[in-house]
Amino acid sequence: MASKDVAARLKAGLRIPVMAGPMFIASTPELVIAQCNAGIIGSMPALNARTTEALDADIARIKAGVGDKPYAINLVAHRTNARLGPDLEIVLKHKVPIVVLALAANPDLVRQLQANGALVFQDVIKDRHARKCAEMGVDGIIPVGAGAGGHTGDQSPFALMQEIREWWDGLLLLSGCIATGRSVLAAEVLGADFAYIGSAFLSTTEANTQNEFKQMVVDGFAADIVTSNGFTGVNANFLRPSLIQHGFDPDNLVKRERGNVNISDGGDNAKAWKEIWSAGQGIGAIKRSEPAAAYIDWLVEDYRAARAAMGMPVWQA
Ligand SMILES: Cc1cc2nc3c(=O)[nH]c(=O)nc-3n(C[C@H](O)[C@H](O)[C@H](O)COP(=O)(O)O)c2cc1C
Repeated sequence: MASKDVAARLKAGLRIPVMAGPMFIASTPELVIAQCNAGIIGSMPALNARTTEALDADIARIKAGVGDKPYAINLVAHRTNARLGPDLEIVLKHKVPIVVLALAANPDLVRQLQANGALVFQDVIKDRHARKCAEMGVDGIIPVGAGAGGHTGDQSPFALMQEIREWWDGLLLLSGCIATGRSVLAAEVLGADFAYIGSAFLSTTEANTQNEFKQMVVDGFAADIVTSNGFTGVNANFLRPSLIQHGFDPDNLVKRERGNVNISDGGDNAKAWKEIWSAGQGIGAIKRSEPAAAYIDWLVEDYRAARAAMGMPVWQA
């Protein structure tokens, strides 16, 4: 299917061109259901279910909750993920409509998912990675810019989008620091088909995040975000107050050698992600903890206002 058709088909039932980024521990089936029913594409990492059997039950619950609306499951396609094989079987069994592959993947996996009817998206932090993904035949590329929550990029979204859009006319979902409707519109202006939003959902009621974590997101600003590769071997962004709470000096974190990567269960420091909380620089826009639907309602309003301010017609009127 031509990429323009894919974008149009995915946008058809949405209220705003937004896909939620899957978040380790934080995303729940309830969050995915709320996201989809409020008019965006919801997503969840497979590893958030404690076992493959639990993943089976979670996906069944999501399907019952969202009907035929599109949702995504994230698979960590890295050799350190021992559950990749069994989880993949479940994803194939349920014919999950969108699969987001994280960090590394192979063409066979992409083909297997596509042959089963899935759209396959992969996140990238450099143009070079995006070219590899295109060679593998993915349906959508997710450029992750500097400041993103979770494993972050280090390049400006302007640079990433300019370089990738020059040669890729397929689906692009821009990730990193997007939390307002105005920013969603800006992502489209840069050439994205969708904005990809993670951290803004950390403070929602349905997220599996402690109340203190939700409050830290509500209270936090870009200056509260610290980048470190010390926990997983890959650069990720963490909340400064949460690092301090666990005895780390945010300005002197240990640096890991290149290639020493362990991301299967959030890294080999048991506290990373569970107690040392990750978020991106966009959290300054998050002013309250509320149900995901209320946040999405606000996002849609802000997007409409931004379009009107630019003299643009109502989206999908
Ligand atoms: C706490 C947290 C956990 C995350 N876990 C994952 C994950 O398991 N898999 C994945 O592909 N992306 C993960 N991400 C990245 C998001 O899917 C998304 O790319 C990112 O949050 C977008 O940037 P933003 O947080 O600035 O909106 C995570 C992000 C956060 C904040």
